[in-house]
Amino acid sequence: MEKNSIETAVEQFRQLLTEQVARARRMEGEKTVTDFASLDRIVIGLIGGDGIGPIITKEAEKVLRCLLADDIEAGKVVLRTIDGLTIENRMAQGKAIPDDVLAAIKSCDVLLKGPTTTLKGGTLESANVTMRRELDLYANVRPVSLPEQGIDWTFFRENTEGEYVLGSRGVEIPDTLAFDFKVTTDAGTERIARAAFEYARKNGKKNVAIVTKANIMKKTDGKFSEICHKVAENYPEITAEDWYIDIMTAKLVNEKARSRFEVFVLPNLYGDIITDEAAQIQGGVGTAGSANIGDRWAMFEAIHGSAPRMIEEGRGDYADPTSMIKAAEMLLRHIGKVKAADRLAAALAVCTGPEAKLRVTGSPDGATGAEFAAYLMENL
Ligand code: IPM
Ligand code: MG
Repeated sequence: MEKNSIETAVEQFRQLLTEQVARARRMEGEKTVTDFASLDRIVIGLIGGDGIGPIITKEAEKVLRCLLADDIEAGKVVLRTIDGLTIENRMAQGKAIPDDVLAAIKSCDVLLKGPTTTLKGGTLESANVTMRRELDLYANVRPVSLPEQGIDWTFFRENTEGEYVLGSRGVEIPDTLAFDFKVTTDAGTERIARAAFEYARKNGKKNVAIVTKANIMKKTDGKFSEICHKVAENYPEITAEDWYIDIMTAKLVNEKARSRFEVFVLPNLYGDIITDEAAQIQGGVGTAGSANIGDRWAMFEAIHGSAPRMIEEGRGDYADPTSMIKAAEMLLRHIGKVKAADRLAAALAVCTGPEAKLRVTGSPDGATGAEFAAYLMENL
């Protein structure tokens, strides 16, 4: 019996290994990069998601419509609503992203996506993980800034492999043990490292922290660190520093030490965890946007989840849309609408700053998301 389970698991592992080697080879091949400046028409897909997702996405959409009014009028930008990426539909179809929804997503150039519910356990993969893989959105870029404390951090989280790529495909010997897999490829690491160092160079940053646990995860994180250092050789003006994830989580709450960090590059799961911590330092996960960048497509979203508790407690309208609006700002920058993005950033600074006339708190003692968006648009 046990022997059978081991044989089955070994067979499963062989299959996974074969698939992952094929994925690595594909990454090494040719790539096409979307040049937004050369497109006659840019299609922005809008996906509401679950829980508070549709509520906050609607507010971000209003802001986009306001800033892009001329381009929309001229047919240069199209906002396209994509339905069906809900937990109900996904469960009914038994698919992380139903085929028709995925086709609609791929028909767009960029996407603004509300949070989708991710189930614990089971085999239904997270819609986020599926989308990041299907669209090959390898760079998860998460900025966190707190100007009054000199904090200006940008996290480059590897977004398509690591602990996530086989997270729903572990093996198990019933009642005995379970195995998950973490995968780090040369090509996958090189492209995220390049993205981080390129960003640092273009933005005059002098320091990139390579954050791993290479003292323990010797193969995968060891490779990640080694390849990041190799890429760093092409950027002699930038210091590349090795840090372990545990001490880095401590450094981020150390007010004396944290402001010297600028750019971080890290494997998927550490990036997931530490960016929630960083967002909390900025004022909460509701204040943080997230860009998922690939060569062909890009998807912009809130850093946080769908907050089912807020819906259960009837507080959905009080959810903070700032995260989605910041995601919209990153989207604008990505498609080359830099002026519109700068206008939005300036208005956000006023409307979330110390002089702001209203505040979203997540409950009825604060403003609703719709009130906040209206206030923001007055300040554009
Ligand atoms: C994030 C989220 C997702 C992740 C979940 C919803 C799958 O926490 O974008 O950080 O773990 O990547
Ligand atoms: Mg997360």
